[in-house]
Amino acid sequence: MSTAKIQIKNLYKIFSDRPQEALRLLKEGHSKDEVFAKTGLVTGVNNVSFDVNAGEIFVLMGLSGSGKSTLIRLINRLVEPSAGSILVDGEDLAKLPHAELVKWRRRRIAMVFQSFALMPHRTVLENAAFGLEVAGSQKGWREDKTMHVLEQVGLKAYAKKYPRQLSGGMQQRVGLARALAVDPDILLMDEAFSALDPLKRTEMQDLMLELQRGQQRTIFFVSHDLEEALRIGSRIAIMEGGTLVQEGTPHEIITNPANDYVRKFFKGVDTSRYLTAADLVDSGYDKAQLNGGPRMPWTTTLPEAMRHVLGQDQPVGVVDDANQLLGCITAKSLLVKIAEGARHA
Ligand SMILES: Nc1ncnc2c1ncn2[C@@H]1O[C@H](COP(=O)(O)OP(=O)(O)OP(=O)(O)O)[C@@H](O)[C@H]1O
Ligand SMILES: [Mg+2]
Repeated sequence: MSTAKIQIKNLYKIFSDRPQEALRLLKEGHSKDEVFAKTGLVTGVNNVSFDVNAGEIFVLMGLSGSGKSTLIRLINRLVEPSAGSILVDGEDLAKLPHAELVKWRRRRIAMVFQSFALMPHRTVLENAAFGLEVAGSQKGWREDKTMHVLEQVGLKAYAKKYPRQLSGGMQQRVGLARALAVDPDILLMDEAFSALDPLKRTEMQDLMLELQRGQQRTIFFVSHDLEEALRIGSRIAIMEGGTLVQEGTPHEIITNPANDYVRKFFKGVDTSRYLTAADLVDSGYDKAQLNGGPRMPWTTTLPEAMRHVLGQDQPVGVVDDANQLLGCITAKSLLVKIAEGARHA
């Protein structure tokens, strides 16, 4: 069973010292634009609730200005909420005294930014060790620990170099190493790979997935790229104008987009890779006719299902985990589903 690491409940952020009137309007159902027109105040986050499970990579998506960075900063309290709560391991951060909050931030949570934010006059090692240095750890211990993390991200040989001697992709690895060195439970990543070219970007995604297999941190990852979200996310949430429009697994988002705003992110993305036989099944087919015929499990991926169906000149039954027949897939039903999918592309 999954347990919630971060619980966000009815969270609001209005950029003002006096948010009450704007809050009232939002709670009455007015949109971010209407609230701005009436009060002149900008809404960053509007009544957002969701859980992030321990050990998962949760991806937050949305267009520019939809509130992603505001939300990620609310989680480590770089931004103060106007209303609502954020619980981490069941504890309300808003109730922590300031000194405790600072300690908590240093030990349990780390953030990786889009701009690498490295210090130019410090070596790779000194940059990566910065979080530990701030936390007051002893130099020898700190450097050993950081070297170990630099090795994990493939930068051991560059420890004595300066940021300007490194490519963008390598600089972002330093940013990641700096976050990992403090050994946080929670890693917040705001468009961390967006400045990298597509190849370097997938390389970083692979590195992160590989590290995650051994470490099981809770990762909250902001991205505006659906391809990236599908690749790394166990769940995806999509924001529009400060509100959450959908939350679900990659499969749920692909097969059941909440609205056209969500569908727009599909453009140019091969969403069919995320379909399985269960999505392709023709349930109207007379099941009696499938008796004794070939079968495939509902989890079969689209390419496998195609191979299976095209290799037979009869319908292939699709069965659930209990081996019950859900329906079948024929060459014709496959074509219909693929044509439907192609309309999104
Ligand atoms: N410090 C601030 N003061 C006032 N308004 C702000 C502040 N920070 C963000 N906003 C506003 O809050 C809204 C959400 O901004 P935010 O930076 O969270 O969006 P985003 O989804 O991260 O966008 P991007 O993809 O461009 O990074 C925007 O309308 C923005 O103008
Ligand atoms: Mg942002």
